[in-house]
Amino acid sequence: MGGEEKEEIMCGIVAYYGKRNVSEVLLDCLQRLEYRGYDSAGIAICESGNIDIIKTTGKIKHLREKIDINKYSMTHLGIGHTRWATHGVVSDKNAHPHKVDNISLVHNGIIENYMDLKEKIEKRYALQSETDSEIIAHLIAEKYNGDLLNSAINTVKNLKGSYALAIISDKEPETLVLVKKENPLIIGIGEDEIFVASDLTALTAYTDNFIILEDENIAKIYKTDIKLYNFNGDPISTNSKRVKLNFQMANKGGYKHYMLKEIFEQPKALLDTFLNHISNNHEKIIFNEFENIEDRIMSSKSIQIIGCGTSYHAAMIGKYLIEKYSGLSVSVDIASEFRYRNMTPTDNQIIIFISQSGETADTLASVKLVKKNKITTIALTNMISSSITRMTDSTIYTYAGPEIGVASTKAFTTQIIILYLFAIYLGQCTKRLNDRNIKEHIEKIIRLPDLLDGVIKMNDIISEIAMKCINYEHFLFLGRNINYPVALEGALKLKEVSYIHAEGYAAGELKHGPIALISKKVPVFVIATQSQTYDKIIGNIEEIKARNGTVYAIASSGDKRVINLVDGFVFIPSVDEDLSIFPNTVIFQLFAYHCANYLGLDVDQPRNLAKSVTVE
Ligand code: AGP
Repeated sequence: MGGEEKEEIMCGIVAYYGKRNVSEVLLDCLQRLEYRGYDSAGIAICESGNIDIIKTTGKIKHLREKIDINKYSMTHLGIGHTRWATHGVVSDKNAHPHKVDNISLVHNGIIENYMDLKEKIEKRYALQSETDSEIIAHLIAEKYNGDLLNSAINTVKNLKGSYALAIISDKEPETLVLVKKENPLIIGIGEDEIFVASDLTALTAYTDNFIILEDENIAKIYKTDIKLYNFNGDPISTNSKRVKLNFQMANKGGYKHYMLKEIFEQPKALLDTFLNHISNNHEKIIFNEFENIEDRIMSSKSIQIIGCGTSYHAAMIGKYLIEKYSGLSVSVDIASEFRYRNMTPTDNQIIIFISQSGETADTLASVKLVKKNKITTIALTNMISSSITRMTDSTIYTYAGPEIGVASTKAFTTQIIILYLFAIYLGQCTKRLNDRNIKEHIEKIIRLPDLLDGVIKMNDIISEIAMKCINYEHFLFLGRNINYPVALEGALKLKEVSYIHAEGYAAGELKHGPIALISKKVPVFVIATQSQTYDKIIGNIEEIKARNGTVYAIASSGDKRVINLVDGFVFIPSVDEDLSIFPNTVIFQLFAYHCANYLGLDVDQPRNLAKSVTVE
């Protein structure tokens, strides 16, 4: 969208029809979606023939303060929105819902032909906001002839871009119209009540029965009757499905922050994830997900792994593991780069797309791109029925449970255990690994939850190191080989939650530039656990100390060589280099968490970030 204006971006949408207090349900669901955006929020409720709109900048708790909850105990229908803007100001007027005449709507997405539409609309009306969403409301209001569904169908013909919409009208106080194109929208069916949200986790407290809208679906919900249509207005069938999610897991469960809870949940998350892939006798790796694509996997010549942010770091780890155990060559790409590169498809290529949320716009765009080239696509995601699962040939799920903290923790470690298992699986298929090798790997994997429990017990030691570090403005993280992406992830975690500038480097690169940064003011966190490059890492630490640098290290238990050199350390038990990525990651996560917590920051919802980046 060109021009000076803003767009409605990684937002969360909710709606409710039923006998509960509408405002309470909307606020509760918005709270659960707040990770998708938290610049501003609002609700619209059909009340005595009018639509009440209450909206504000700030978080859901600010919105809650503005709402007279008791007023809505007898009302039935409402919509709500939590917003995260990329351009333009965060203001009350730009917050959703938007109201034009009798129409009120909430929107998640971007209208690409916004400027053209705006030019025409503003000749006829004075616009109240700077949003593309208001333009949609104008179009629907203009076309309204007493039938909200029809005016929505007629409006989508004029829209280019991505949008999930929830629309109500004070002329039809028991009708809700939903429109879905490229952004997720889910209907939850309760007993005599209907819930709507941008994702399942917002609704699992209320129901386990869902309709997951497909692209170019329009839903008309009259009271609790649901009818689906395509964008031409033709009726289509409605198939609901039951999805069981553990609602307990979406609570803080006594922890101060979701992030800490989610770090502590990793032993269980790993167990839940790897158990699905290990045979009962612990002798084979299984991927039932590949039933329909097994031949293609067996004949694959190369593998590519694509993701963004933390998921990209998981992809990098996957490269080390898959190349080592399968002998196949693996390339990795950041989705936002891949989608604009001229990729040349090769025969028998498999591409794994990693996305915790399954909704990241760049990753989905990359899937679309390769689908044209008939490549075998596999999604690795934590979100059941997310968009990516419907676009790829096969889906592997991580069973991390809902991850609410914006900084990804347990999703990452479950992604890398899957990549580890996949690497061994390929080694098993190609016979590069014999039965004994496979069994040994499985035994090591099974011990991982205990290993991580041990690391979590060192929380206090990690917290003490963090306490010493909160006044630094810059940090370097060094790792080598498979621990290089772990260093990148450690730096990303610190940046995201503590706002301390941090960079991760492959330790071998130190001399090629970053060493110029070394000073008392720029401490370095080094992964110095046992590895094939251990001596070289010791060399790096010596180089930093020779320049008066401060070094913290993760070292293998009892390693005197490291502890005699460094300013602070955390031990992990002696494990294979490949497995050390798990404890090392958890230590960096805890370090970032404690830094942010000591700094008094909003750990779960860091400034400027949203959990799920659903637009480019
Ligand atoms: C992780 O801590 C970040 N918040 C972010 O980098 C994230 O990993 C990235 O946006 C990708 O998200 P996805 O896995 O849901 O696709």
